[in-house]
Amino acid sequence: MKLIAGPASIDLARKISTILNLKPIELEHKMFPDGESYFRYCEQLSGEDVIIVQGTHPPQDKHIVQLCLLAMGAHDLNAKSITAVVPYLAYAKQDKMFKEWEVVSIDAILKILKSSYIDRIITVNIHSPWVISRSPVRIENLDATPLLSNYIKELMLKDAIVLSPGKKGDEMASTASKVLGLDYGVIKTKRDISTGNVEVYIEGVDVKGRDVIVLDDMISTGGTMVKSILKLKELGARSITVGCVHAVMVDEADKKIISAGADRIVATDSIPNKYASVSIAGILASHILKA
Ligand code: R5P
Repeated sequence: MKLIAGPASIDLARKISTILNLKPIELEHKMFPDGESYFRYCEQLSGEDVIIVQGTHPPQDKHIVQLCLLAMGAHDLNAKSITAVVPYLAYAKQDKMFKEWEVVSIDAILKILKSSYIDRIITVNIHSPWVISRSPVRIENLDATPLLSNYIKELMLKDAIVLSPGKKGDEMASTASKVLGLDYGVIKTKRDISTGNVEVYIEGVDVKGRDVIVLDDMISTGGTMVKSILKLKELGARSITVGCVHAVMVDEADKKIISAGADRIVATDSIPNKYASVSIAGILASHILKA
């Protein structure tokens, strides 16, 4: 087995390699002056099971192209199999035609990855798990919710409740509540597909005077979290702990979240970020070893 640390995920790949006791292979990587990526494998890959660790967080297009180059290069060097560890899988939000004639981006991206000779993708909390069954390439989707929850458990919050927004909110909050031993609830959301603005609805849960944990699979613009925090404050929450698997954090979303009244942000290291107090390297490493 050969482990390749893609330029998007060098630190995470190093952590995985330490756990697996498998040094990443030497890879020559440079950027041409016009912004194109150059790679050269510094050793033979013939007959090897190759694991490429490369997230597709922003800049997504560049990271996807780099993943394709690395996979196709490994294929051309006669690798036996190619596994892409893509902790954050981009483009999963455009998982259907919301409007007539739109490009269903995630389907296109998965076809591109398939035609780059990737045999399987290992990812974490994919945004649209319902695309897995129609994907042309095998996707194995891990859940980092228990890891985040275990970390939050140590914070010793008082009379706490865990809430999660969106379509997958019930599943995430329920998983977390089992680890935390707490009540849980869902934050209903409604997004305007043209403006991207989101409205949140918190009903049927009592948060007054309680420590509230809001867990989400990802924070992108921070819009969902900011609206949730403002509503929770209005409802009398005592403290708010924000947790996410993927801290995409565009346009200083984290600052907006703190300004809205969050007490802390907890994230994983699926994307390099300053709130990454929870590492997903362990679950990725043990999954890599599974056939
Ligand atoms: C929605 O389904 C997700 O769980 C997140 O709530 C959403 O993607 C977050 O996006 P943003 O930070 O831009 O509101």
